[in-house]
Amino acid sequence: MSTRRSLQVLVLTLVALGVFTGGLAWLLDTDRTPPGAPREARLYNGLCATCHGVDGRGSWRAALFLIRPGDFTDRARMSQESDQCLFDVIKNGGAPFGKPGMPSFGHLSDEDIQALVRYVRRFSQ
Ligand code: HEC
Repeated sequence: MSTRRSLQVLVLTLVALGVFTGGLAWLLDTDRTPPGAPREARLYNGLCATCHGVDGRGSWRAALFLIRPGDFTDRARMSQESDQCLFDVIKNGGAPFGKPGMPSFGHLSDEDIQALVRYVRRFSQ
């Protein structure tokens, strides 16, 4: 193989690798929080948006894995759940409430969870 040809193969391989890893990063990375955003926005986009979507409607990435997070923008549905109820689901996970797809975030402080409850509420206001 000529040097020129092996160089072409090398460049093509590098380009293919770049496109692949870039695509994977795009698929997995939902966090597009602008720097300086409030803490709850950073928490939500970093921890919750993977499943609930940045807009609260549920992300198609979660749907790919058959996870069905509820629609936070659905006013009728959200108005039936008290703040305490939302707090408990975030702190303890959804399993005790018949929503097994929702993981528990008990490692967050109560203040952070309260901030997340307010953040989630905003989607239906
Ligand atoms: C692995 C995916 C996943 C992640 C990550 C996740 N959730 Fe959920 N969440 C769910 C599912 C599934 C439900 C259950 C929806 C149902 O059954 O109605 C749920 C339910 C909830 C509920 C109860 C209200 C409702 O819609 O039923 C709240 C509040 C909630 N999530 C907030 C959060 C917050 C805040 C975070 C981040 C700290 C978070 N979730 C992260 C999947 C997820």
